[in-house]
Amino acid sequence: MTQNIDSTLQENRLFPPSPDFAANAQINEAQLLSLYKQAEDDYEGFWAERARNELAWHKPFNTILNSDNAPHYHWFEDGELNVSYNCLDRHLADKADKTAIIFEGEQGDTRHISYAELHRDTCRFANALKAEGIEKGDRVVIYMPMVPEAIVAMQACARIGAIHSVVFGGFSAEALKDRIDDAGARMLITADGGHRGGKIIELKQAADKALAHCGDSLEKAIVLKRTGHDVTMQSGRDIWWSDATEGACDECEPVWVDSEHPLFLLYTSGSTGKPKGIQHSTAGYLLGTITSMKWVFDYQQDDIYWCTADVGWITGHSYVAYGPLAVGGTIVVYEGAPTVPDTGRFWKLCEDHKVTVFYTAPTAIRALMKCGDEIPNKYDLSSIRLLGTVGEPINPEAWMWYHEVIGKARCPIVDTWWQTETGANMIAPVPAVVAAKPGSCTRALPGISADVVDEAGNAITTPDKGGFLVIRKPWPSMLRTIWGDDARYIDTYWGKFDNRYYVAGDSARRDKDGYFWIMGRIDDVLNVSGHRLGTMEVESALVAHPRVAEAAVVGRPDEIKGEAIFAYVVLREARPKGGIDEALTAELRGWVAEQIGPIAKPDNIRYSDNLPKTRSGKIMRRLLRTIASGEEITSDTSTLENEAILLQLQGKE
Ligand code: PRX
Repeated sequence: MTQNIDSTLQENRLFPPSPDFAANAQINEAQLLSLYKQAEDDYEGFWAERARNELAWHKPFNTILNSDNAPHYHWFEDGELNVSYNCLDRHLADKADKTAIIFEGEQGDTRHISYAELHRDTCRFANALKAEGIEKGDRVVIYMPMVPEAIVAMQACARIGAIHSVVFGGFSAEALKDRIDDAGARMLITADGGHRGGKIIELKQAADKALAHCGDSLEKAIVLKRTGHDVTMQSGRDIWWSDATEGACDECEPVWVDSEHPLFLLYTSGSTGKPKGIQHSTAGYLLGTITSMKWVFDYQQDDIYWCTADVGWITGHSYVAYGPLAVGGTIVVYEGAPTVPDTGRFWKLCEDHKVTVFYTAPTAIRALMKCGDEIPNKYDLSSIRLLGTVGEPINPEAWMWYHEVIGKARCPIVDTWWQTETGANMIAPVPAVVAAKPGSCTRALPGISADVVDEAGNAITTPDKGGFLVIRKPWPSMLRTIWGDDARYIDTYWGKFDNRYYVAGDSARRDKDGYFWIMGRIDDVLNVSGHRLGTMEVESALVAHPRVAEAAVVGRPDEIKGEAIFAYVVLREARPKGGIDEALTAELRGWVAEQIGPIAKPDNIRYSDNLPKTRSGKIMRRLLRTIASGEEITSDTSTLENEAILLQLQGKE
C-alpha cells in the first residue's frame, strides 16, 4: 500500500445547515431517507423511476440494467432519447425567454442568451455540421475558449448523435493531435483564440500545428472568430463558424439515439503515458447530472448557477454544459482568469450576476484566500446561498475561509467527490440534511454504493482505517469503456478485485459517523490544481527531449496547487556542475509545456547521474517523493544500487 493509505487527518467540527437553508431546500430529511430506502429495497427500480421521471424519452426503455457483458454494463436499453432535446427543446414551452447563459468575457463583454436563442444557435450549428457531412457516431474534437459557442458546439454534436471530445484549450498542439488521432475525429471545432490572463491564447495556431501532423481521419475545421486577430485559414479545410452557419436553418430535428449511444469521449490521465478516452453514455450520464443537480446543488428555478470549470474537464461537461441546462437552469460562463484585472474578479462576477450557487476547486479557493479577506469583502456576496468544491481534498483551513469569508457562515458547502469516469457526483452531502465536516465529502448519494475495502477486497469496518475506495454496484452515469481499449477499461477499473467492484484509484477512510475522507490517489496519478496528470505522461515527455536519458516524476505537496510536479532527470551528457543548469531547466519546462500543456510543466527539475533503483531495477518512487517533499529519509536505502547518488537527488551535491 502507498503512503496515502497510512496518512490521517482528524477533524471533528460539524456544520449543520442553517434552519433558513433547510426550510427552503428541495430535499428534506424524510425525502432523503425515502430515497435511500428505495435504493436499498429495489436498486434497479430506484434508478428506473428516476430515469422515467427526469428524462424526456422519445421511446421508453425496456430493460433497466443489462449485466450480461459485465463489467460493460448497459442502462435503460432500447430507450431512445436525445440529450440536446432534453437540455433545450423541453424547456421551450415554459422557459423560452428564460436566460440559459450569462456570459462574461475576460475583457468585460457580456451576453445573455435565452433558451430560445440557445436552441436556435444549437440547431443552426447542428445543421452546419450536417452540411459538412458529420453524421451520427462521427467523432468531433472541440478545442475552444470558454465561450457560449463551446456549449453550442457540444449541444449540436449531441443533437445529431455525433460524439464530441473536448480538449482543454490549455493543452498543447501535440496533446491535441494525439487526441484527434486516438478518437479518429473527422472534424475539429476551434477558434482563432481566446482571452485569458490578459493574453490571447493562440488556439488556431496550435490547431494548425496539430492538424499538420495528425492522421488522415481529420477532414475539416470550423473556426470561431473570438479575438479577431490574424490567423491563417487553410482553404478547403478551414471554415469560419459564421460562414458555416450563414443561412443555416433555425430548426434541426434531433437524432434519436439509443440510451447507450456514446455522448462523448473525454481524455484523462492514467498510470501509463497514454491518456484514456473515457466514454460516456447518453441516458445514464444525463440522469446522473440531473439527479445531482437536484440532490447536491438543491437546484431551484431562480438560481444563478456558476460552476467555474472549463468545458475541457468533466466538471465543465456535467455542471456547465449538461446538468444545469437539463434542469432548465441559468448558468454563468466566464471566459478568463480569476486574476484579471485583479484577484477580486470571481467575487465581482458573483456580485454583478447575483450568483446563488458557486462551485469551484480547492486550488482556486486557496489561491484567492492568500490574497486577503479585504478583496472578497469589497463585494456584495449576499446572493450566494450554496457553495461547492471539487477536484481534490479541501484542507480545513481553506474550507473555513470559504465558509466564513465567502459564505458568511450562512451557506452550506458541498464537497463533491467524483471523477471523469463517474460522470456525476458520487459522494457528497445533500445540503439541507447532511451536516458538513471540513475536508470530508460526507456520504454516498442515494443509489451509489461506495465503500472502503482492504487489499483482499473485504469491507473495512474499523473507523478511520484507510483502504481502497470502491463502488460496489454499477450506476447509470458510469463510464462505459475506454475508447478503443476494452481490455484497459477492465484492467484499470475492475481487475484488482476480480471484476467485483469499480476501483476508483483513490484511497479513503470512513470515520465513526460513516463519513468518507478521501486520502489521495493510489496510482501514479498526480492531482495538480485539481487536474489529473499521469507521472508517466510527464516522464515520456521529458525522455522525448534529445538531451534526456531517463526521468522520474513524482508529486510534492504544494500549498496552492495541492501537488506540484517534481522531476528527476538523468542526461545523456554529463550532469551539470553542482546539479544546476538554469538554461536547460527552462528549456525542459518549455518542452513539457509543448508536449502536453503548461499545466504539466515540472515545478522542480533535479539532475542526477542515475535514478535510485532497487537491484531488480525498479525506481524507488517512494524515496523520490520523500526527497521531493523535503522530508528526512527514514526508509532503508541499502538496497539502492548506487547509494552515492542520494546527495545529488537531495540537491546537496
Ligand atoms: O483523487 C480524486 C480527486 O480527483 C480525482 C478525479 O479527477 P478527475 O477525473 O480529473 O475529476 C475531477 C473532477 C470530478 C479523484 O480520483 N477528487 C475529486 N473530487 C474530490 C477529490 N478528492 C477529494 N475530494 C473531492 N471532493
